[in-house]
Amino acid sequence: MTASKPPNQDQDSPEQLLALLKWYRAAGVDLGVGDKPIDRFAHAHMSATSVKSESHSTPPSLPGQAFAPRPVSTSQSAPAPAPQATNADPEEAEKLAQGAGSLDELRKRLEKYEGCGLKLRATQMVFADGNPQAKIMLIGEAPGRDEDLQGKPFVGRSGQLLDRMLYAIGLDRTSVYIANTVPWRPPGNRTPSPLEISLCMPFLVRQVELVAPKIIVTLGAAATQTMFGEKLSILKTRGRWRDIKVGAHAAKAMPTLHPAFLLRQPVQKRQAWQDMLAIATLAEEMGLSGGDSD
Ligand code: URA
Repeated sequence: MTASKPPNQDQDSPEQLLALLKWYRAAGVDLGVGDKPIDRFAHAHMSATSVKSESHSTPPSLPGQAFAPRPVSTSQSAPAPAPQATNADPEEAEKLAQGAGSLDELRKRLEKYEGCGLKLRATQMVFADGNPQAKIMLIGEAPGRDEDLQGKPFVGRSGQLLDRMLYAIGLDRTSVYIANTVPWRPPGNRTPSPLEISLCMPFLVRQVELVAPKIIVTLGAAATQTMFGEKLSILKTRGRWRDIKVGAHAAKAMPTLHPAFLLRQPVQKRQAWQDMLAIATLAEEMGLSGGDSD
């Protein structure tokens, strides 16, 4: 949730302002925004180092076509004094990501990447957790508040539930690798936009190529639609194995329900449990005994 500046802030005493802040916090407001919207992507288009033309900003469509962004409109852009311009050039992301020969290098390149505006508001990047040699990779939607503070995916309440789900089938973070569709927290925990996802997509694709998992599990609708490139209903597609090609890497993939959804709708845990059993069964059939198997 967001709050704009209170109208009579100048006349309020420090005590009143503190009380107001406390009230905001209790109401779930965790982000302050200005009175006027700023189109930071439009600003990036205007900056000397950014994209050459608007037609150039066609995002990569790999594999997330369902999230294929529409061109950014610059018609309403205020002459924004953005503190940091972003460089929304999808070709830059593609080049940076493809040039990474290891996960460490990919992480460093992503740290330097200025193309996605989410970075401006995030505390830090959330790259991955788990075992890079694992043959099972989980892909979530985006870091939340706890992940943003700790720099690791799935460490908040939904992460704790995810850990319990994994534990129930004999897995843990030493036997899986976990990443998200975007590595920075969207303000107020909103779903990342199609543009944000597509600007980060080349890094996720390369991450999958470098980890080379045999099994990919997409957690929730956003990750599922991003990875399969289709507008799929998570409730209809969950629990079904599909072949997936991510960049140069092929794997078996299954969508399942996002743990945050399960926290809101515990009645759906039965379905998630079936999915976990299916993952355990396939992992056994494939002879995947944990991190260092091949
Ligand atoms: N939800 C996600 O999708 N990813 C995280 O890392 C945390 C919560």
